[in-house]
Amino acid sequence: MYTNIVTETDLGVGIITLNRPERHNAFDDALIAELSDAIERMAANPAVRVLVLSSTGKSFCAGADLNWMKRAAGYSSEENLRDSRALAEMLRRLAQCPKPTVARIQGPAYGGGVGLIACCDIAIATFDAQFALTEVRLGIIPAVISPHVIAAIGERYARRYMLTAERFSAAEAYRIGLLHEMVTDDAALDEAVGEVIDALLGNGPAALAECKQLIGAVAWKPLSLAVIEDTAQRITRVRASEEGREGMTAFLEKRKPGWIQGA
Ligand code: COA
Repeated sequence: MYTNIVTETDLGVGIITLNRPERHNAFDDALIAELSDAIERMAANPAVRVLVLSSTGKSFCAGADLNWMKRAAGYSSEENLRDSRALAEMLRRLAQCPKPTVARIQGPAYGGGVGLIACCDIAIATFDAQFALTEVRLGIIPAVISPHVIAAIGERYARRYMLTAERFSAAEAYRIGLLHEMVTDDAALDEAVGEVIDALLGNGPAALAECKQLIGAVAWKPLSLAVIEDTAQRITRVRASEEGREGMTAFLEKRKPGWIQGA
């Protein structure tokens, strides 16, 4: 069904793999449409409890396909805007996916590739992966990825790396918060991603969706009465939910909760 990506679902895990290695997984309109569709389907599929974003070949993702970007510049302003919105919407779907998302980064990521990573909840890469926000070097700007990238690395580092377009190492990406973990090689990458998946699969699926919404609702907000009231309402609702009751009862009865397979 897809030509630029591969999707699979196994034991609660949905995997979307960017599969355009000859272009370092750069995304054009076709890849964006497929990715956007696949994220939406994974989000709606009850068999998927965790979503992994991975890719094939040397690079994780070389960002926007510059042939496509250049082509879009020649479109009518309406078509040009429609195209940009499609990319922004794909990133939003990934960032707001109700399932936890894990980026498996086996190689370099540039521009929009950094954006994809920033949209995922958890990011793990090999030591040799490199990163850059190269847009200004190309005379463009990291516009639609900016809310996600700034949320991940903060304004201070966004100023440096968006303005200099310098390459930075996985160690630096780890230091500034783009990555959660660095590992030595692909085998260690699979192991580390597997451990995170196991942790996520142990958690209540509805609680995970609620928790993602909670983070989105609270992050960057000053501690106002409205925020405090919102958090009180959320826990009130969630602890009375079926899953909340089951999780707490299972703990007190010293058994596994119903959402864990074989419980
Ligand atoms: N858009 C379109 N094509 C791209 C691309 C992109 N973002 N990134 C790589 N490619 C293409 C190259 O043009 C090349 O095409 P060709 O075989 O027709 O010449 C092919 O992929 C292989 O790339 P090449 O540069 O020869 O490989 P490399 O291993 O020496 O370098 C990169 C790989 C990713 C480091 C390098 O291609 C690069 O810097 N790409 C631009 C990344 C970028 O700045 N992205 C942000 C865009 S907003």
